[in-house]
Amino acid sequence: MERLVFYVLVFGALVKAQHCPGRCICQTISPTLTLLCAKTGMLFVPTSIDRKTVELRLTDNFITAVRRKDFLNMTSLVHLTLSRNTISQIAPHAFVGLKALRALHMDGNRLTVINSDQLQGLINLRHLILGNNQIHHIELSSFDEFVSTIEDLDLSYNNLRTLPWEAIARMTNINTLTLDHNLIDHICVGTFTLLTKLVRLDMTSNRLQTLPPDTLFQQAQVLSDPKASSSSKLTVSFGGNPLHCNCELLWLRRLTREDDLETCASPELLMDRYFWSIQEEEFICEPPLITKHQVTKSYVMEGQGVTLKCKAMGDPDPTIHWRFPDGKLVHNNSRTILYDNGTLDILITTLKDSGAFNCVASNAAGIATAAVEVNMTPLPLIVNNTGHMREADPGLSDITTSTKSGSNDTKPQNKRVVVENLNANSAVIHWPSERHIPGIRMYQIQYNSTVDDTLVYR
Ligand SMILES: *[C@@H]1O[C@H](CO)[C@@H](O)[C@H](O)[C@H]1NC(C)=O
Ligand SMILES: *[C@@H]1O[C@H](CO)[C@@H](O)[C@H](O)[C@H]1NC(C)=O
Ligand SMILES: *[C@@H]1O[C@H](CO)[C@@H](O)[C@H](O)[C@H]1NC(C)=O
Ligand SMILES: *[C@@H]1O[C@H](CO)[C@@H](O)[C@H](O)[C@H]1NC(C)=O
Ligand SMILES: *[C@@H]1O[C@H](CO)[C@@H](O)[C@H](O)[C@H]1NC(C)=O
Ligand SMILES: *[C@@H]1O[C@H](CO)[C@@H](O)[C@H](O)[C@H]1NC(C)=O
Repeated sequence: MERLVFYVLVFGALVKAQHCPGRCICQTISPTLTLLCAKTGMLFVPTSIDRKTVELRLTDNFITAVRRKDFLNMTSLVHLTLSRNTISQIAPHAFVGLKALRALHMDGNRLTVINSDQLQGLINLRHLILGNNQIHHIELSSFDEFVSTIEDLDLSYNNLRTLPWEAIARMTNINTLTLDHNLIDHICVGTFTLLTKLVRLDMTSNRLQTLPPDTLFQQAQVLSDPKASSSSKLTVSFGGNPLHCNCELLWLRRLTREDDLETCASPELLMDRYFWSIQEEEFICEPPLITKHQVTKSYVMEGQGVTLKCKAMGDPDPTIHWRFPDGKLVHNNSRTILYDNGTLDILITTLKDSGAFNCVASNAAGIATAAVEVNMTPLPLIVNNTGHMREADPGLSDITTSTKSGSNDTKPQNKRVVVENLNANSAVIHWPSERHIPGIRMYQIQYNSTVDDTLVYR
């Protein structure tokens, strides 16, 4: 044994003479070349590193940035540790070419953002350790290169409010997902469904009020049976979150787990009580109750705007939809805006808006509806100068469309309205002067769109 150590030291010293940068320790146990450069006061990654290095440890230095050239051509590098430096920048494509890299440790640095081009090229990555940084944003495609290889992802102790959940949902080889001590306030439904190799999920100390039910957690219940093989047991930790203990968390309570100390933050009745000690019957939801439904004005002139308001209480917070008097669901478009607070803005009314709009409030416990009456006043149509009015008649359009300038029928162009440059969003409309007809006060332009139905502008 002593002889072996001696041999390694001598060989290491030999290598050092050729490649070993600064105060690093370089070891070659053929064919593996290892560079240990911890606590050597480095300010940047040394350029003299042997490009055939397999393991590189640069822990506890003062490196501030990862540059494009730092790890160029290091195609044999398997393990890279940059923990506890002061790195705040990673150059785009800095890791491109590291196709053998399996472990990247960058915990304890000063990263704030992960961009999609920074982790590019890491096609074999198994362990990505980014804990203890100040990361507040991760671009959606940042993890794309290694979603199918990654086994261990650590993003703990950062400032993350959200994650690229869609990418995480595709990490089918992941066994450890460490997300504790962030500001995460929601988890997308179905995120964990395909992550069948997951053994440990740590969501401790975030801002989660609820957890969406997931089939994977249902399996956790079965596997927490002591007779099941311990290797496939899933541990989920979510203590230190402000859990809102209503009927939406009943599924979680029904899992058999006694070993955790999670508490509820709300509703008031359950505040600070241990999650697992609360009876199932106490996880209650309240169906919606509409507390306010009104329209800003009782009579609306055709074409004018109007605002309809609706508010509802309930637990969980009800979401609000509106239905037109004809029963159709209101969507956001150029004529109607539906705000999340239940307010519906109709920017331009039509006669079809006459009647009872229905506000529909719904949550996990039920549905409530309330009608809001809109009274439309049609615009008068003045047909001649005797002052006599009649109802507007939405008759046939006399617009001729000439999208091609090829046709040369001058006769209708003189008499009729012509539309030119017609495309999906705009058109130029010409119509002949009608000064010979007295009393024209306005023109009415009506268009038919599949999105907005018929609109009338004046
Ligand atoms: C990387 O490899 C390329 C092509 O093999 C070579 O031209 C370049 O000098 C190498 N760079 C370093 C830093 O070794
Ligand atoms: C409609 O648009 C408003 C304002 O842009 C937005 O707040 C709201 O979320 C949108 N509603 C839907 C259902 O997309
Ligand atoms: C709802 O939200 C919109 C847009 O933020 C705002 O203009 C409107 O005043 C709000 N309505 C109510 C009733 O709070
Ligand atoms: C004006 O309108 C009235 C009522 O519709 C009609 O009797 C009359 O003939 C019209 N006059 C002209 C000049 O069109
Ligand atoms: C259309 O008519 C105008 C004048 O009447 C003429 O200058 C033009 O060449 C004609 N275009 C075609 C395509 O026939
Ligand atoms: C609008 O256009 C669609 C499709 O061309 C048609 O089915 C519908 O009847 C039109 N509506 C009106 C009011 O003209």
